[in-house]
Amino acid sequence: METLIPTINRLQEVFLTVGAEIIQLPQIVVVGSQSSGKSSVLESLVGRDFLPRGSGIVTRRPLVLQLVNVAPLQERLKIDGGIKLPFSVNIFTDFQEIRKEIEAETDRSSGENKGISPEPIYLKIFSPKVLNLSLVDLPGITKVPVGDQPEDIESQVQEMILSFISNPNSLILAVSPANSDLATSDALKLAREVDPDGRRTLLVISKLDLMDAGTDALEVLLGRVIPVRLGIIGVVNRSQHDINTQKSLEDSMKDEQAFLQRHYPSLASRAGSRYLAKTLSRLLMHHIRDCLPDLKTRVTVLTAQYQARLNSYGQPVEDHSATLLQIVTKFASDYCNTIEGTARYIQTSELCGGARICY
Ligand code: GDP
Ligand code: NA
Ligand code: MG
Repeated sequence: METLIPTINRLQEVFLTVGAEIIQLPQIVVVGSQSSGKSSVLESLVGRDFLPRGSGIVTRRPLVLQLVNVAPLQERLKIDGGIKLPFSVNIFTDFQEIRKEIEAETDRSSGENKGISPEPIYLKIFSPKVLNLSLVDLPGITKVPVGDQPEDIESQVQEMILSFISNPNSLILAVSPANSDLATSDALKLAREVDPDGRRTLLVISKLDLMDAGTDALEVLLGRVIPVRLGIIGVVNRSQHDINTQKSLEDSMKDEQAFLQRHYPSLASRAGSRYLAKTLSRLLMHHIRDCLPDLKTRVTVLTAQYQARLNSYGQPVEDHSATLLQIVTKFASDYCNTIEGTARYIQTSELCGGARICY
């Protein structure tokens, strides 16, 4: 089942590129109020420091992240006989450079003074260390315009978020900080608008370490305050001080586990960033499995349409219906190969993998 996801990602790329929303494919979208910890949650899922984070509005454009699990470089070298680099590729040696590029790209389209833009940045990360997941980071819900933000910033951001999460094939990762009342959660409120039955919403309680002395999130995490069908997972990510002092993700995960063992021993095995990653991967696979019959139907219809068109040109067409998905996948890979030469992108060349940003 794991191998199905790159195929689906490929299909999504093709249909996005041809500008058609012909097939709506599953992806995980992070939603929450500003500074609730969305970018931090995504970073811990990816296992890499590379997203701009911080207080105030930092994420100002949608960022579509595709994580692709690949064999380590040495193994790939054996298989591919070398990595082919298309021309006009910028090589980066660390993920800090990617962060800078995301920031520069954000400024390019949305100005330097806190403006926002609905135009997504596409980032693909190849690594043997990631699960096969597609994730979307979004600007947070905000109420009062600052800097160059328009008066209607709140509704603009909400519209942007809704455009991603109203896709019935998206999984919603609603991030709500432990130190604010769950009943006031913007994330859950928006998620419920598009997913009233909670079939595709997972709740992440961030900042467990920042609760008032004498309080804890046990009742919330057990679903006794607001039940969430797919689950509620508590996490501890890096504080601003941790970021400033460059605490590593690895150390952060260790400390997170220690914190959970100490404060939530009965829940420690069902909480934390690693458990979140596992849960997401499982949900995504179930989701894809559930979507497949519909996907096949759509491909069948499309193929029939194109066959009819081809027939109208008077050319004989063989019946490929048994291998429809293979045809589309082949088309996807051919198409991606042709656009690769022209797309401007960045590629890291770490020993363990790499990443690339497509605009
Ligand atoms: P976003 O605006 O929702 O993307 O939030 P960010 O990920 O940018 O985080 C906002 C701020 O909260 C940053 O300064 C983070 O360091 C901090 N932060 C995020 N998660 C946690 C957490 O679990 N604990 C603590 N102490 N700080 C956190
Ligand atoms: Na923020
Ligand atoms: Mg953010």
